[in-house]
Amino acid sequence: MSRHGTLACTLLVLLLAVAPPPSCTALAPPPRAVVVPVTKDPATSLYTIPVRYYDDLVVDLSGPLIWSTCADDHLPASISCHDPTCLLANAFPSPSCKPTTTGGCATAADEKVCTAYPYNPVTGQCASGKLVHTRFIANTTDGKRPLTQASVKAIAACAPRSLLSSRRGFPARATGVAGLAATGLALPAQVASSQRAAAKFLLCLPRLGYNPGVAILGSGGPFYLDEGLPDFASTLDHTPLVTKNGSAAYHVTANAIALDDARLPLRPGAIAVAMSTSSPYGSLRRDVYRPLVRAFEAGLNRSDARVAAVAPFELCYRSASLWNTRIGYFVPAVRLVLAGGSNYTMTGTNSMVDVNRETACLAFVEMKGVNAGDASSPAVILGGFQMENMLLQFDLEKKRLGFVRLPYFTSCSNFNFTKAQ
Ligand SMILES: *[C@@H]1O[C@H](CO)[C@@H](O)[C@H](O)[C@H]1NC(C)=O
Ligand SMILES: *[C@@H]1O[C@H](CO)[C@@H](O)[C@H](O)[C@H]1NC(C)=O
Ligand SMILES: *[C@@H]1O[C@H](CO)[C@@H](O)[C@H](O)[C@H]1NC(C)=O
Ligand SMILES: *[C@@H]1O[C@H](CO)[C@@H](O)[C@H](O)[C@H]1NC(C)=O
Ligand SMILES: *[C@@H]1O[C@H](CO)[C@@H](O)[C@H](O)[C@H]1NC(C)=O
Repeated sequence: MSRHGTLACTLLVLLLAVAPPPSCTALAPPPRAVVVPVTKDPATSLYTIPVRYYDDLVVDLSGPLIWSTCADDHLPASISCHDPTCLLANAFPSPSCKPTTTGGCATAADEKVCTAYPYNPVTGQCASGKLVHTRFIANTTDGKRPLTQASVKAIAACAPRSLLSSRRGFPARATGVAGLAATGLALPAQVASSQRAAAKFLLCLPRLGYNPGVAILGSGGPFYLDEGLPDFASTLDHTPLVTKNGSAAYHVTANAIALDDARLPLRPGAIAVAMSTSSPYGSLRRDVYRPLVRAFEAGLNRSDARVAAVAPFELCYRSASLWNTRIGYFVPAVRLVLAGGSNYTMTGTNSMVDVNRETACLAFVEMKGVNAGDASSPAVILGGFQMENMLLQFDLEKKRLGFVRLPYFTSCSNFNFTKAQ
């Protein structure tokens, strides 16, 4: 509706002081949030989103940048290394990457062009590339379905193809990474600024073999799945998001870990929990992993169904011998007792993975090369499997995480991607 139409509606509503007639619904500002489907790649168990017709990017919750191998025939405008965004692009150097420039300014020939250091979270490799202006195509949403197409301005790094050359573990169709960290050049902040939307996003990761899940950028809700179900964004529990030195990853703090109601005997103190979509399964530092495995085995008390380990997992059972319920295998619930008083509870559906037709295993692995109490590492990393069919709300304004496990009768794959007529 035009401005005049809107104004006329406003006057009409003011004058009549009654509910607006249907034609005045344009009084509400159009939604600016954008919605993208999130697909789980069967070969790697990682998640991708389409950000352009020709680009699928791997979702990296800890990624500070958006990067892809820019198509040769489509070299976009680059950014000066004196531009403040160049500093933003280099604010979170990855541990494996030694920048060869200061503040993004190369000393060599193209000294005016900003250099960024895109990082491949799967292979741990990093490379240098130009920072460029680009655009993404996505649909806006009201939290229920797609509405209209939007072109989102963004700044991304162009990575050399070599960053994908060791493709082991990287989805075959993907051409780069969409970083979702709380940093200036990750996707959430860029959607917020281009769409003048909120610095918030919702993530709902799908299970393998189902329809895509969904991410909504620029909004913390509402969020609807099937017809007739409530707004799930209004049912969230919350806990503060904390930042750790030099890391762009999202962390939350647990005060204890419990199996059902029994707390694990861990050393006292806060337990740093990181959330990672570039690891398919969770990993635990040895001082947390050993007590968890011991207590889980004892709590389940099904040595009769125990079978040999299936790498990378240790605690495995004959699946036919376990009870299956609507919330997964009937096993002790793993609870992160979080700062703020809420619990992140993982029932069998988020704690036990079917590794083959006969075998289900506890879906956590032991962190390698990290010592007990090592402050430089989180004690717990939740992997994608632990976040599937949970609605996650990252509120970068209030610096808090909202979460709720979806009830068994719906899932992240039930978002309606059909446009209204
Ligand atoms: C927008 O939504 C329509 C209808 O679901 C879909 O066909 C189209 O591919 C979507 N566009 C983008 C860019 O995702
Ligand atoms: C964070 O970094 C500062 C300065 O680099 C250091 O003094 C502090 O101990 C670090 N904190 C943690 C938790 O590593
Ligand atoms: C969280 O879990 C702990 C351990 O099971 C339990 O004692 C506590 O009551 C739970 N809190 C909430 C809010 O459910
Ligand atoms: C474990 O299971 C066995 C056999 O079913 C039972 O006799 C025993 O009491 C159980 N132990 C616990 C601690 O529940
Ligand atoms: C999805 O939304 C469309 C358009 O609003 C509607 O016609 C359709 O029935 C919905 N599909 C489901 C499965 O709810």
